[in-house]
Amino acid sequence: MSKVVPTPSAFTPRVFSGIQPSGGLTLGNYLGAIKRFVEIQDQGAFETIYCMVDMHAITVWQNPADLIRNTRELCAGFIASGIDPEKSILINQSQVPEHAQLGWIFNCVARMGWMQRMTQFKDKAGKNAQNASLGLFGYPALMAADILIYHATHVPVGEDQKQHLELTRDIAAKFNHDYGVDFFPLTRPVIEGVATRVMSLRDGAKKMSKSDPSDASRINMTDTADTIAKKIRKARTDSDTLPSESGGLAARPEARNLINIYAALSDQTVEQVLYEVGGKPFAAFKPMLADLSVAKLGPIGAEMARLIADPAEIDRLLTRGSERARNITAPILRQTYDIVGMVPPVPVGSAPWSG
Ligand code: TYM
Repeated sequence: MSKVVPTPSAFTPRVFSGIQPSGGLTLGNYLGAIKRFVEIQDQGAFETIYCMVDMHAITVWQNPADLIRNTRELCAGFIASGIDPEKSILINQSQVPEHAQLGWIFNCVARMGWMQRMTQFKDKAGKNAQNASLGLFGYPALMAADILIYHATHVPVGEDQKQHLELTRDIAAKFNHDYGVDFFPLTRPVIEGVATRVMSLRDGAKKMSKSDPSDASRINMTDTADTIAKKIRKARTDSDTLPSESGGLAARPEARNLINIYAALSDQTVEQVLYEVGGKPFAAFKPMLADLSVAKLGPIGAEMARLIADPAEIDRLLTRGSERARNITAPILRQTYDIVGMVPPVPVGSAPWSG
């Protein structure tokens, strides 16, 4: 596991990242994001803030009962994977209103042309872009606000988020330039390791995703041991044996994906794994991968189930997280408003909301 080292800057070394509560957690989310979040938290070199981005989730339709359940389940997934709500700040986005408030400012900074280039919008809106929500189009400006409302310096994500993080830097730079300040940091994406793009088990050219219609294409964090083993047994492969060196994986996307997953789960490099399994047929490798997956994911799934059984405790943790978050976000929003030229409140009002 590579260590993320804070870059010298005027800003406090601070990590922010988020996940949408728009369905179950997949192995892609775990290896590409959550496992990295835990490692960075435990290194102790950064203040860490991790978020369930419920406001991003509703850019496409979410059934309200599912959204609330998925948000709590995601919170359980974070904690079961090793996020400690004392060491990290754990929040759901809608409880920290400064995200949306800064998001509005950034809607006025970001340019239409920038947003139109976002591949994720094109993928998600599909052929019927006219019928997509305005929120889906503006999604990356809110994402920039999520990050910059904390002056976060580093953002660990999977590869699919790279373009959004470039846009975040563009927004910060334009804001700083337009107002003649050096207020928002140019945040560094942290896209590292062997699992920045975990692929579908059914198609090595497609990303593993919670929205894939085929459940067999992904491993869900709540899958049972039997289901995990079955999905790996059925994973698409080719008919060759495994190579002994990584060059041998170049034109074999399915083999590369399974080896990458094995390497990430066992904290090894691809070379170390191939040294161990090179020359083996898939019939011998798949049971090894299934056993490793069950050994690593089984305890997380079991702990998630235990935590989900007490939703009131999850809600308390999130409320506490949002209070801690707002100690950071409220002053940064106020300073932003001052830079932009918005009249601040003065303590004279008697209305209930003026305190
Ligand atoms: P989301 O919810 O799609 O995914 C959450 C995280 O999981 C990573 N990920 C993967 N990594 C490797 N392989 C995969 N197959 C895979 N699938 C998902 C994603 O790269 C991501 O890191 N826009 C974000 C949420 C967001 C956010 C933010 C992230 C909102 N605001 C601010 C960082 C900072 C998203 O939709 O992630």
